[in-house]
Amino acid sequence: MDSRLTRRGLLVGIGAAGGAGAMYAAMGALGLAPTSQETRFTPPQPGDFALQGRAAASVVVLGAGIAGLTAAYELGKAGYDVTVLEARGKPGGRNLTLRGGDSLGEVNGPTQRVTFGEGIYFNAGPARIAPWMVTLDYCRELGVPIETFVNRNAAAYVHTNGVTQRARTARADMYGYVAELLAKATDAGSLDRRLTREDRERLLEFLRRFGDLGPKLEYEGSTRRGFVDFPDVDAGVPLGPPGPLSQVLAAATGRAITNDFGYDQATPMFQPVGGMDRVVAALVERVGEDRIRTGIQVTSITGLADGVEVEWAGGRHRADYCVAALPPHVLARIPHNLGAEVTAALRKPVPVAAGKIGLEYGRRWWELEDRIYGGVTETDLDITHIWYPSHGYHERSGLIVGYYTTGKNAELYGALTPEDRRRRALTQGKKIHGEKYRADLLSSVSIAWERQQHILGGWVKWPAVDSSFTLLQRPAGRVYFAGDWLTHLVAWQAGAMESARNAVTRLHRHALQRP
Ligand code: ALA
Repeated sequence: MDSRLTRRGLLVGIGAAGGAGAMYAAMGALGLAPTSQETRFTPPQPGDFALQGRAAASVVVLGAGIAGLTAAYELGKAGYDVTVLEARGKPGGRNLTLRGGDSLGEVNGPTQRVTFGEGIYFNAGPARIAPWMVTLDYCRELGVPIETFVNRNAAAYVHTNGVTQRARTARADMYGYVAELLAKATDAGSLDRRLTREDRERLLEFLRRFGDLGPKLEYEGSTRRGFVDFPDVDAGVPLGPPGPLSQVLAAATGRAITNDFGYDQATPMFQPVGGMDRVVAALVERVGEDRIRTGIQVTSITGLADGVEVEWAGGRHRADYCVAALPPHVLARIPHNLGAEVTAALRKPVPVAAGKIGLEYGRRWWELEDRIYGGVTETDLDITHIWYPSHGYHERSGLIVGYYTTGKNAELYGALTPEDRRRRALTQGKKIHGEKYRADLLSSVSIAWERQQHILGGWVKWPAVDSSFTLLQRPAGRVYFAGDWLTHLVAWQAGAMESARNAVTRLHRHALQRP
């Protein structure tokens, strides 16, 4: 048997019996340094402290976003005495789902009252989960049911350079013409230096399928473009032939029809049934509501030789450890004694603006008239995307996301009043969907994350993933940092969760080994 496997088997055995601490000690004895690639996350176990005959340590977690809640949840499994301090009025951070009766304030702006009808919700922050992400493991573990999030829909629209067409049409034409060009070049021998005779035949065979090409390798349109009248007892009426190649190229549909090609956006994706904040509710329940204090704005963090003390107006809290799970630009403003290097590193990531508007309609016209069931319309307008709901099909009312913007477009909308954001979003969406887009609206609410108190950004951008990034992945004394911003999954809950696990692993190792 391979000796590496034997050793690993041994370690897993020790880990299962004696907990992570015993496993790390054994690994030390064997001279094995765990690498992040190699170490599967092992949650702290209830027995870890008991086996050593010592009391569990105390931890103060700053921030009840997904990173803070995940850290608190995982530490709680081993009996850590955890206190979570949250500056906002409720836990969740950017995992925010708005429903009728909620209100949403913003920095230097009016408070919006949410008047959605029964059962309508708006995921103002995260809204989709890729299947490989740890977020789904937490949904499973926490008993949060999930359903499919439609991220790609052939019936949704592509609106570019003033032209609106169905996504299926835009794809058929681009794939068709690209296939034709490549097939003709191949057929004419232009690629003979790269291709053997066999390669050539195989490539042509693929391209015929890819582009739905005719016998002469022409793209002359295809039923893939869609129909004016779909087939029934009759053959149906297909859309006419495509415009010429130069017209199809001029539509510049590139971004719009490749948006879901990436590993993080590929179909299928998922969402919790009933709203993304079901994840928050489940974590809060496991952590214990009594352990989370909201409305606490920390004003100082002091690292001590054997603990950490945090202060706020009218209070202080001392614990053996701290997990600081705030956005870096927010954390950077809190006075601390963790050193100038930490301050400098926290200032590196730059907050990115991001915004969304939820538009409530009393009639699901996108299903009734456009036959769009979930998915995303991609545009080159400043609204960027329109999202149709992936749930509640055929109900009477529903909510679509009228814009989801980042960067410059988000700054543009974020600077407007909520009323002007709605007006602008409706004017843009009307270019695609016509008058009903404006006329049938019941209510709306918009969020500009850069104007959300104590968050101040949609996410961050690191100018470079450099030594600051790795510095903050490690603790500063007994302060451990956590957040999506410390991973290669920025702007994903999975990043927050993975980072929390990293902080918990390191913290627990220290807690079990401290004298
Ligand atoms: N995770 C974000 C999204 O899916 C960026 O849009």
